[in-house]
Amino acid sequence: MANVADEIKDFFVMLFLVIYYWIEAIILVFIPASIRGKSVAGETVLVTGAGSGIGRLMSVKFAELGARLVLWDINQTGNEETAKEIKATGASVWTYTVDLSSRDEIYKAAQQVKQDVGEVDILVNNAGIVTGKKFLDCPDNMIQKTFDVNTTAHFWTCKAFLPSMIERDHGHIVSIASSAGFIGVNGLADYCASKFGAVGFDESLRMELGMLGKKGVKTTVVCPYYINTGMFDGVRTKYPWMLPILEPKDTVNRIIDAVRCNQEIIMIPKIIYFLIALKGILPRKVLILLCKHVGVSNFMDTFKGRKND
Ligand SMILES: *[C@@H]1O[C@H](CO)[C@@H](O)[C@H](O)[C@H]1NC(C)=O
Ligand SMILES: *[C@@H]1O[C@H](CO)[C@@H](O)[C@H](O)[C@H]1NC(C)=O
Repeated sequence: MANVADEIKDFFVMLFLVIYYWIEAIILVFIPASIRGKSVAGETVLVTGAGSGIGRLMSVKFAELGARLVLWDINQTGNEETAKEIKATGASVWTYTVDLSSRDEIYKAAQQVKQDVGEVDILVNNAGIVTGKKFLDCPDNMIQKTFDVNTTAHFWTCKAFLPSMIERDHGHIVSIASSAGFIGVNGLADYCASKFGAVGFDESLRMELGMLGKKGVKTTVVCPYYINTGMFDGVRTKYPWMLPILEPKDTVNRIIDAVRCNQEIIMIPKIIYFLIALKGILPRKVLILLCKHVGVSNFMDTFKGRKND
């Protein structure tokens, strides 16, 4: 009989927590990050792909909030430009030229960072490349490279910096993925597969950290719709009021807010949460019809790519 009593008790405890967490989540929506967010002042933030686009904007924003910045990019010129902007804010900054498709280079650079700067508190895995070709037209080495930079590199950077975060029970891993990490898109086979990988990695890692009881090490996965940084130049959406091409500045502010609030998943714009839920419940034929109508499935037809590539 004791067992039954225990089970009933467990059930009510769970029920109570479910209701409690729901209410908590609803209340938190109304409290802005500037109030409830953690401070990143004095934290060491490493951003990969810091030499352009979102990576640059995030780095500058972190610097404005008082963080010390470590910038990784394969493009030294771009990286130095970002560093210059950061110095103008008065923050400390270190730059490293790193090819994120090379595990050796990642480990070497990580070692160097630990010597020069010390331990990293917030790791932002942002670097990425895009091919924008139909799967069968995509050269093998480009597919390989995409995965190396967009997915596998997350493993190596985490291996390099996570142990010290766990030891200190203090840290944050941020993965810049995409809403294409939840929904497959025509013409983006390599992209979607690599982003599904990044999303899956983040989710599993979070579970593992949870099991370890390391409450001080947070993870955030960022899933934006297409951002207007030049990477997807030429792309159009049919219903911009519903699925706008995102403006970089606004997106970056929302990413940083999410990191400061230790939000685990952030989808931008919010309608993506709804679309992903729909994907789970709609009949396939209805879903495909809707995708065609909204223009998600022929989205890449007008793709031109970043002009300076
Ligand atoms: C490197 O960055 C500079 C400055 O942002 C840019 O002009 C150049 O095109 C980039 N080089 C490559 C190979 O992307
Ligand atoms: C790699 O990541 C970047 C940045 O998140 C993304 O824009 C790019 O399309 C990705 N490339 C592929 C082929 O997955």
